[in-house]
Amino acid sequence: MKELFLFLHVVLASFWVGGMLFLSLVVVPYLRQRPQIRDEAFQEVGKRFSLYGTFGALFLLLITGLVNAYLLHGGMRRTVYEKLFVFGIVVVVSLAHDLWAGKKALYSEKHRKWAKWLGITNLLLSLLLVYMGVRLRLGL
Ligand code: HEM
Repeated sequence: MKELFLFLHVVLASFWVGGMLFLSLVVVPYLRQRPQIRDEAFQEVGKRFSLYGTFGALFLLLITGLVNAYLLHGGMRRTVYEKLFVFGIVVVVSLAHDLWAGKKALYSEKHRKWAKWLGITNLLLSLLLVYMGVRLRLGL
């Protein structure tokens, strides 16, 4: 049971962080060179990643993370609460990115910039969560 939940948590984290890296390093530069399809493709790709990432992976990361805390540490520790706090910020930033800036980016440069910076913030905070997971694993 322990290894199953840690496995699921790591796979979900790979999807979430890997998906964001793939979008920013592969999809975004490619679409910048294709202005004729850029807006439509951004919206379509964004909607899908929002569904599987923000509303799927993030929710399941919370569930598997809490189960891991109980199975591996016998309950919540200070470091788990700290991780939950950063996770809460990631959820708020993701929702602002997907439901506000991302949607309006089609019509305004200001919202396009917001979407970009919210996305970068999210990637950095999510990498911090991976680091916090590693520290938890090592008992640090
Ligand atoms: C975007 C969200 C998250 C990401 C990217 C993430 C990432 C990770 C990763 C990569 C590990 C494995 C570390 C390792 O085995 O070396 C891990 C472990 C863990 N995470 Fe998360 N995590 C997230 C959210 C959460 C949440 C919300 C919680 C709990 C409330 C949580 C609790 C834990 C616990 C308890 C472990 C296990 C530590 C251990 O093995 O002793 N995580 N996390």
